Amino acid sequence: MEVIRSPRQMQERAEALRMEGKRIGFVPTMGYLHEAHLSLVRKAKRLSDVVVVSIFVNPTQFGPGEDFERYPRDEEGDRAKLEAEGVDILFSPSPEDMYPAGYQTFVEVTEVSKGLCGDFRPGHFRGVATVVAKLFNIVRPHLAVFGEKDYQQLLVIKRMVEDLNFPVEIVPGELVREEDGIAMSSRNVYLSPEEREKALVLSRALFRGRELYEKGEKDARVIRDAVREMIEAEEGVALQYAEVRDAETLEVIERIDRPAVIAVAAVVGPARLIDNVVIGREDK
Ligand code: PAF
Repeated sequence: MEVIRSPRQMQERAEALRMEGKRIGFVPTMGYLHEAHLSLVRKAKRLSDVVVVSIFVNPTQFGPGEDFERYPRDEEGDRAKLEAEGVDILFSPSPEDMYPAGYQTFVEVTEVSKGLCGDFRPGHFRGVATVVAKLFNIVRPHLAVFGEKDYQQLLVIKRMVEDLNFPVEIVPGELVREEDGIAMSSRNVYLSPEEREKALVLSRALFRGRELYEKGEKDARVIRDAVREMIEAEEGVALQYAEVRDAETLEVIERIDRPAVIAVAAVVGPARLIDNVVIGREDK
């Protein structure tokens, strides 16, 4: 696996690959890779000739007091996992290379960034959209895979690609769960065994919401309230939101007569966790 640190070098490499007619698949990450990341890598591999994975803990998407400093990092472990998956190029730039002195350009996706995580992490999606736009210009992928666990992020990126005419196909990757139901996340490492046990209420509540829907409940508020109540009843879990939204636009809906996402966020001990299930969609 080739490791490239300089944005300029990565751009030149991408240009050369394009000249050779190669289809570049891209998986942007912040590292500390787990099985869910690797499933995105496998998807990219199936759909392209050359797979590039980036590892960059992006400072602009963390707010003051968030976990930028303590975000888990394991470059050696990550490298070994990517090698084993047959990844062609690891792009791992430094913050100084991505945001040199004098940096002042940002990308803002106004509407779909509002609500849900946008309300609790001001500036977060601006940081995400900015770094992903930069990464697209550096890696020049034909397609990029984004996990559905960060559901709002996926829609923000889709909107940005549409609005700014990026010639990149955005491919969603399935949310992957541990055996006990918890959504895989690099942040799960923050949880003590007791906190992790409590955190299971998020997936349990989402599964309950999905079950209500599958049994015929189509009132979004009834499902939302059932999910909320279950999470609020768990001591040590501070619910930030539990919402049922249109799966394409994230607009508030009253009746579930089209694909919808039940999305939740909560703080458990030192970790802020998010999770979701999509309902009313053919493939689920
Ligand atoms: O989902 C992530 O890991 C990050 O938000 C991303 C897309 C790599 C941008 O920093």
